[in-house]
Amino acid sequence: MKNIKGLSILLFVLTVILLPHSIYNETFAQSVNTNVSSSRNRLSQTSPLFFQKSDLMKIGAFYYPEQWPHEQWERDFNNMAKYGFDFTHMAEFAWTYMEPEDGKFDFKWLDDAIGLAAKAGLKVILCTPSLCPPAWMGEKYPEIYLVGSDGRRREHGVRANASLSNDRYKFFVDRIVTAMAEHYGKDTRIMGWQLDNEPLATSDYSPSARLAFQEWLKKRYGTIDKLNAVWMGSFWSTRYSNFEQVLIPNEAMNGEDKLSPHALLDFQRFTAAVTGNFLNRQTDILRKYILPTQWITTNYVNVSTSSDPRLSDHLDFPSFTLYPVNGRNELGGINFRTGNPYRLYEACDYYRSIHGITGVMELQPGQVNWASINPMLYPGTVHMWILQAFGGGCSFVCTYRYRHPLASSEMYHDGIVGTDGVTLSQGGNEFVQAIQELKKLRLFYDSKAKMPEQIAKRKTAYLWSHEVMWDLDLQQQTTLWSSWRYRNMYTSAIKSTGAPVDFITETDDFSAYPFLVAPAYQLIDEVLVEKWHQYVENGGHLILSCRTGQKDKNGHFFEGNWAAPISSLIGANVEFFDMLLPDDKGSVKTKSNTYTWNCWGDVLKPTAGTEVLATYADQFYTGKAAAITRKLGKGTVTYIGVYSKDGQLEREIVRDVYQRAGVEIEDLPKGVYMEWRDGFIVAVNYTDQDFKLMIPDNASILIGSNPLKPAQSIIWSFQNNAKQ
Ligand code: GAL
Repeated sequence: MKNIKGLSILLFVLTVILLPHSIYNETFAQSVNTNVSSSRNRLSQTSPLFFQKSDLMKIGAFYYPEQWPHEQWERDFNNMAKYGFDFTHMAEFAWTYMEPEDGKFDFKWLDDAIGLAAKAGLKVILCTPSLCPPAWMGEKYPEIYLVGSDGRRREHGVRANASLSNDRYKFFVDRIVTAMAEHYGKDTRIMGWQLDNEPLATSDYSPSARLAFQEWLKKRYGTIDKLNAVWMGSFWSTRYSNFEQVLIPNEAMNGEDKLSPHALLDFQRFTAAVTGNFLNRQTDILRKYILPTQWITTNYVNVSTSSDPRLSDHLDFPSFTLYPVNGRNELGGINFRTGNPYRLYEACDYYRSIHGITGVMELQPGQVNWASINPMLYPGTVHMWILQAFGGGCSFVCTYRYRHPLASSEMYHDGIVGTDGVTLSQGGNEFVQAIQELKKLRLFYDSKAKMPEQIAKRKTAYLWSHEVMWDLDLQQQTTLWSSWRYRNMYTSAIKSTGAPVDFITETDDFSAYPFLVAPAYQLIDEVLVEKWHQYVENGGHLILSCRTGQKDKNGHFFEGNWAAPISSLIGANVEFFDMLLPDDKGSVKTKSNTYTWNCWGDVLKPTAGTEVLATYADQFYTGKAAAITRKLGKGTVTYIGVYSKDGQLEREIVRDVYQRAGVEIEDLPKGVYMEWRDGFIVAVNYTDQDFKLMIPDNASILIGSNPLKPAQSIIWSFQNNAKQ
């Protein structure tokens, strides 16, 4: 550890000495004190090196030079710069142009494009093209393709079709990434790198994947007996004699019968690990060549449960893609045009929590081509999202894409400019508006701004685990169960209070958060239960919900009562759980309201000292407890055993926890969100109703107006004077 630190300092000093003066600027100076303690052989993971805090948020747009005539590039970059964009993004998917033949590289066209972008004043994000192996590769080596659960090998003509476990494909990826890094690693026009595109951790059933899975299992279990014990090979004679016999569990190929859920959970873990390693591998190659100012990220798909961004831990930070309008109408009214209300705040909170930095790599600029129905966006929506991303702590927002394509697979996809290549689209105009407003906001930036105490007191952590999400989805037990919706319900209840939220994991420190919420946290161990106990004893307010603590980390039940390890923590026994039919409306009552449910109900038997917050009002267990709370040490534990139909019960009880703790909260309706960032408070409105915000008299509204109209955003601050 010490040596690594020493090496980091040495590297830093060398870098400063060797770097051209142009990039040894304030950014570097700022990073000296803050970044040398990085535990990796890297100067920084913190934003001063990569993004100046005083810049607030940079804005960019994707451009695919290979899709447009060379003679239009200059015009396009000049227009982009004229509209105020800070950067552009290139080379994604362009493998066949950078390596037209096996081992023959051509960067001339990309050099030209980067040159023109830079001349226009734009910085560049480069992307590695690993998602799109060129035709020559598949022609020579068809084994590079992944195999689906249908047993069919993918082929050329789409993207995301390669097997990340295949050594030959990995060799080619290493080679193109090395060639790009050698060519552009020292280029100060390049601000950062995106790896691949939307790594989804797709299940791969190819021969290469099977071998890799067996290797992974060997490392995990050491002996086949251990694997047999965890997978319960005694059930249906499914045990193995050696690792070479192990098959990838494939439900699609096995008809109706249920495969071992433990084998399936391991396959999920393996698949996520393969993707994490694939990204780390590309990162390590780039890192050998690139300037310390060039950051490395990838663009995860909103809050996805396939890839686990914490496994690609060599990256500097994760970013994400976001397409909120996609044919659904969560809030009714115009909301099918303003977008899924949970996506952006969840993604900001989730990705920002990982390394303290994030950005939106792709923000929907208008209509898309791929949803079931692709409506126009409500005017103001794109602008609202951009400001919301700002409030959510993003260091940049980039949009896919600058130009509306004229042909091919995404030809109905909007861009910043329309089909004529020059006229701003509705979303394009809104980008330009936001770009101008950001310039104004920078004048009000106060590096010393502190989160107001009233907001800080609400700080909430959402306990997140990919394994828990996978396990819930592997054995849902009712078709009504939706892990996504369930998460949305809880984040939405928390957000209604105006609380700042971080997504943290079991190994993080809970003590920084007065409130900790862990819904349906199914897989537990003694260490976690003890950590929860300590947290509460020391004054934390813990909210758990149905299904929590049912299984150990292998996904096995405990030999005891349901959720036995948490009984003494929650002050109740889970007697049994119930689920109703889709048209059923079970009733559950709190002191002031009655709610309906049909998905999941834990029926609770409280022990002495536990207060009942809600009871079942029908079924054969009428009057039994559905939600409870208790004091423990200096804090409280609340357990919400029922999954209500519309999340209103969860909202009432969650809000009550803050209020009982004496914390002042907002009362924001679903679809209205509020964030604090760097001295600014940002609020947005996805609904079709005006909403009047409680803005203190001593605050100044810098952008927008109160009441907040549909699809509008407002920003206020207590900093009244703009810098000159
Ligand atoms: C994203 C993807 C882009 C593009 C876009 C279309 O999910 O990363 O490459 O396909 O969708 O909306």
